[in-house]
Amino acid sequence: MSAEQGDALTVFGITGDLAFKKIFPSLQSMVKRGALKVPVVGVAFEDWSVDQVLKRGRESLEQYGGGVDEAAFGELSKLFRYAGGPYEKPETFEKLRQELGDAQRPVHYLAIPPSMFGTVSEGLARAGCTRGGRVVVEKPFGRDLASARELNDALHQVFDEADIRRIDHYLGKETVTNLMHFRFVNSFVEPIMNRNFVDHVQITMAEEFGVTGRGKFYEETGAIRDVFQNHLLQVVSLVGMEPPIGPGADSLRDEKVRVLKSIRPPEPSEVVRGQFRGYLDEDGVAADSDVETFAAIELRLDSWRWEGVPFFLRGGKSLPLTATEVVVVLRRPPQQVFSEIEIKGAQPNYLRFRLGPEIELAIGSQVKAAGETGESKSIELLACADRHEFLEPYDRLLGDALAGEAMLFAREDEVEAAWRIIDPVLERTSPVCQYDPGSWGPPEADRLLADHGGWRDPKPVA
Ligand code: BG6
Repeated sequence: MSAEQGDALTVFGITGDLAFKKIFPSLQSMVKRGALKVPVVGVAFEDWSVDQVLKRGRESLEQYGGGVDEAAFGELSKLFRYAGGPYEKPETFEKLRQELGDAQRPVHYLAIPPSMFGTVSEGLARAGCTRGGRVVVEKPFGRDLASARELNDALHQVFDEADIRRIDHYLGKETVTNLMHFRFVNSFVEPIMNRNFVDHVQITMAEEFGVTGRGKFYEETGAIRDVFQNHLLQVVSLVGMEPPIGPGADSLRDEKVRVLKSIRPPEPSEVVRGQFRGYLDEDGVAADSDVETFAAIELRLDSWRWEGVPFFLRGGKSLPLTATEVVVVLRRPPQQVFSEIEIKGAQPNYLRFRLGPEIELAIGSQVKAAGETGESKSIELLACADRHEFLEPYDRLLGDALAGEAMLFAREDEVEAAWRIIDPVLERTSPVCQYDPGSWGPPEADRLLADHGGWRDPKPVA
């Protein structure tokens, strides 16, 4: 058990795509805000010099990090070292051990394919790099329950669970942490978050872009593995969980696991898979591919709080806009106090959490329209529109991993509970339904919400 501040950060896969798009920008920004003061050792196959890696770092910052901040990048360059070589070779890890100097509590971040987790952990252990250390691993964490267990076993050969941090970058989003905050720091939200008040919950993760050069990856993954097993189920657990019994990572993670365990694996009739027209023409995609780029799933939670309240999840590529939104739709009032005319157009109340790319927390209410007829008018009370000063997910998560925090990382039992829901969905699939790019997915997905007023499509934020 090590909750002490790490005294070095290693990044495996430093020359890779994730490092290029996300990690260099986060390292620069961590240095800038004073959250990174320890040596950073990059590791990758390439036999490069430190300068070559830093040159790639500069390119990454120009393209994805809002530009090079010379002062911060200068600091980062002073902290930076590189150990290149194959992960199968002990020499690579010996080099790493040397570069780590007298670090006693290194944090090893594996931004590499999961198939290499076992090899790298063993290499680290053999070279004496794991004592007092922690490991941070990237998604995807397995492609089903069995492979997730194998990965867990491989990591546990070397690291205790308390020293493992599994990244789901959704948990590092400012907006997602705000969802937890809004639920449990306010006293008016919790009393209505249950079957007595909530009709249903819907969660949409829409992306305007297609598979953008990731055809091969998508063929192996599909939308359900890519974003449902992890990001969307994480959001379900945060919306559905009981209040944790206190602060601390395990109190929160215990409650999230309880929610996941309460979810009944969906029936085939509760799953709709879609594929956008044109997907088959993407590079790396089989001509007769049946892989989904969209899915809509109805989930039922067997719990006192949520009995009878369906959770509808929908996510996909090539939809009309990029937005992730949770809408908790409330039941209508029990008694009709006003005449039909006066309540004409009245909509059920709701809580709306926009989780990305913008942040918005809104309460949907009804007011009387001014004037004689006084029909009902829908308005939103915007509870949060603070759109600045966001910490990027990787910035937050790597900072937390260095600090020994565990709250925003997935625990072993959480990941396995999520696969337990998703495995049967993957096993019992029906053919994909086609949809037009720029639409809200196949019309078949509307069937799921036919008795609940339909999907509420996220709107562009003004
Ligand atoms: C990734 C998925 O985990 O999350 C991508 O592999 C998806 O397919 C991405 O586009 C969405 O993350 P964000 O932070 O851009 O909403």
